[in-house]
Formats: sequence, C-alpha cells, structure tokens
Amino acid sequence: MSKCLFVTGGAGFIGSALVRLLVNNTKYSIINIDKLTYAGNLESLKSIENSPNYSFVQADICDSEKINGLFNKYKPSGIIHLAAESHVDRSITGPNEFIQTNIVGTYNLLECARTYYNSLGDKSDFKFVHVSTDEVFGSLGETGYFSESTSYDPRSPYSASKASSDLLVRAWFHTYNFPIVITNCTNNYGPYHFPEKLIPLIINNALQLKSLPVYGNGKNIRDWLYVDDHARGLLLAFECGTIGESYCIGGHNERNNIQVVNTICSILDELKPRVDGKRYSDLITFVTDRQGHDYRYAMDPSKIMRDLGWKPLEDFDSGIRKTVQWFLDNKEWVEHVQSGDYQKWINKNYENR
Ligand code: NAD
Ligand code: TYD
Repeated sequence: MSKCLFVTGGAGFIGSALVRLLVNNTKYSIINIDKLTYAGNLESLKSIENSPNYSFVQADICDSEKINGLFNKYKPSGIIHLAAESHVDRSITGPNEFIQTNIVGTYNLLECARTYYNSLGDKSDFKFVHVSTDEVFGSLGETGYFSESTSYDPRSPYSASKASSDLLVRAWFHTYNFPIVITNCTNNYGPYHFPEKLIPLIINNALQLKSLPVYGNGKNIRDWLYVDDHARGLLLAFECGTIGESYCIGGHNERNNIQVVNTICSILDELKPRVDGKRYSDLITFVTDRQGHDYRYAMDPSKIMRDLGWKPLEDFDSGIRKTVQWFLDNKEWVEHVQSGDYQKWINKNYENR
C-alpha cells in the first residue's frame, strides 16, 4: 500500500503546484486539506482531481477535532504544511486571519500531529515539513543574502505571523523531539497564481488595459523563484531533509519591481501587441508605497543545493515567459477567479464528497 502524505493548503498557489507534482510523479497517496478561503481554488487541481492517489478534504487547520480525526483515519507518513494567509497587503489591512491561521492554526496542527506521532509504534517514518518564507528574516540593504543562520527580524503582520509559526515548529522539535524540517523560500511566481500578488496582477491588468500599480519608486527588490522549482525543493526537504534543520530556497533571481513590470510588458508587446499600437508599459502608474515596505529580499540557497542536490530548472527570463504564456492560454481560470465563479465551481463539484 502506498504511503499517505498530508498537504495543507493544497488548493493554493504553491500547494496546488506541489499536489500536482506529488500526484503525477510519486507513489504517495495525497490528502489535500484546505479550508478553501478566497485563495483556495480547486480548479487549479482539475488535471489530477480524479487520480486514484488524490483526495480532497475541506477543513480548517484550527479545527482540532476534524484534524485529529483525519490523522486517525488516514495515518499519514508525513505532512507538508502550506496552509496560511499569504498576502502582505491583506495582513496590513486585516491581521486577524493571519494570527488565527498562521500562528494558532500551525500550533493546532503541531499538537494534532504530535498526538498522532506519539501513538505510532515505528516513529522513524514520520516528518512534518513547515513551509515558510524569506520574509521572516526582515529586509536587506543593497548587499548580502539571507541564509539559515540569519536572525529573524520580521516587519509586517504577515512575516511576523510566519516567524511565530516557524518558532513554534522549532520549539516542538527541541522540546518534544517532534520530527520537523523548515523551509524558507523567496517570492514564488508561475501558473495558477492568485491575481492579487505583483506578477499575476500586472499580467492580468495589462491584458485588460488597466493601470499597472507600482508601489513607491519601484526600486524594491525581490528574489523570484518559479513555483515548480519550489515544489521540487519541498519534496526533497520531505524525503531527504535532516530532522530539526531548516533549508533556504531561492534561485538567485533578484529583480527590482519596475524591472519585473517592464519585463512583463515587453513580453506582452511581443506575444499580444496592443491593437491601439501603444506599449503595455504606458499603463505603468506609480502609486502610494506600502506601509513598512521591506526594501530587499535575497537568498543564499547553498545549503539545499549542496546537501539535498536541489537546483532550479528555470531562471527568471525563462520562467516569466512561461508564466505570461500560461496566463494568455488560461483566460478561463482567471475569469473564474475574477467573477467569483471558481467558488461556485467548488460547491457544485465537491459539496457531497
Ligand atoms: P495561497 O494564499 O495561494 O494559498 C494558501 C492556501 O491555504 C489556500 O488554498 C487557502 O484556502 C488555504 N488556507 C488558508 N487558511 C486555511 C486554514 N485555516 N485551514 C486550511 N487551509 C487554509 O498561498 P501560497 O502563496 O501558495 O503560499 C503557501 C505557503 O507558502 C504559505 O505558508 C506561505 O507563507 C508560503 N510561502 C509563500 C511564498 C510566495 O511567494 N507565495 C514564498 C515563500 C513561502
Ligand atoms: P507581492 O507580490 O505582494 O509579494 P511580497 O510583498 O510578499 O514580496 O509584492 C511583491 C513586490 O511588489 C513588493 O515589493 C510589493 C510590490 N507590489 C507593487 O509594486 N504593486 C502591487 O500591486 C503589488 C501587489 C505589489
């Protein structure tokens, strides 16, 4: 019988990329546990939804009764935990859900998983991978990189909630000997990205000839990683990561925001020229800066490359071209998100499962 693996947040952007990878390329039997907030979209999993090694369960990670029940029912060999509130701007206007899901939810999941783990006869075959972000390390100046030894210095409600969850996970290892691995990854981009984050928002606004909002002077720097490269890193961390350790994931693709936006505009000029003869970059609008906007994130991924043999397959130029092409080819996915139909689709297809 194949081993069972829980993925939380598997209907989100990165979670769905991971679930597609696991279902298509591994022998694990995958249970996707997701509350289906606004960010959860089962249409992103259409390609694998009928696979024999995939099941979906709608559940909130804060609901201990339900989560305990799932551990007892499926007896997983491990869990890769991605469920979270993930958008910095939303955390600034409404931090409560971030505290509930990212901190209290992770605490609850740890306790349910620990109770289950303690009941196991053979404890050698269980691992809890906690998926986190480089934003826990704070903001860099012009030089330097984050690495596993960088001190935590979160500065937004989102990054503070993720840092809190990382610290809880570490504490469960040190105090209870609970088998964890933590990953901290840079900004992801790619197919099925919810169009509130920079890259999908710019692509979709451009295609609708809406203005392209760039915060502040556009000089803030992010280190971009194609989502499938992150998913492969998570699988490696689960299968080969050393218990109690953390792994920083990133592909050395630093770009400032205005460079990112201009690159998207040039690719669109080439692939889908505007009928009015203008350039997409004419739509760029500099807007009021984000409060507490972190200046620069950049990662040193040497440890995961050296110890686990991870290597990104895409650089920014290849990944961003693929991403723009995906959005051009998958207008229906975006239209369903924008109209809210993706949630109707979920109810229609899943309410009786
Ligand atoms: P996302 O917002 O696209 O998806 C989050 C998923 O979690 C959604 O499907 C949502 O329904 C689910 N969820 C939210 N609250 C839940 C709850 N209480 N119970 C169960 N499910 C719940 O996020 P993402 O961008 O795919 O990020 C996934 C993880 O990776 C997060 O933990 C995030 O902090 C981390 N991360 C993200 C990035 C990035 O660039 N997006 C980078 C590094 C790390
Ligand atoms: P975002 O995709 O929200 O990711 P994060 O804040 O987690 O890094 O933002 C990426 C960068 O783009 C960040 O510096 C903020 C900036 N940004 C804009 O300039 N305009 C926008 O409309 C958005 C959503 C982000």
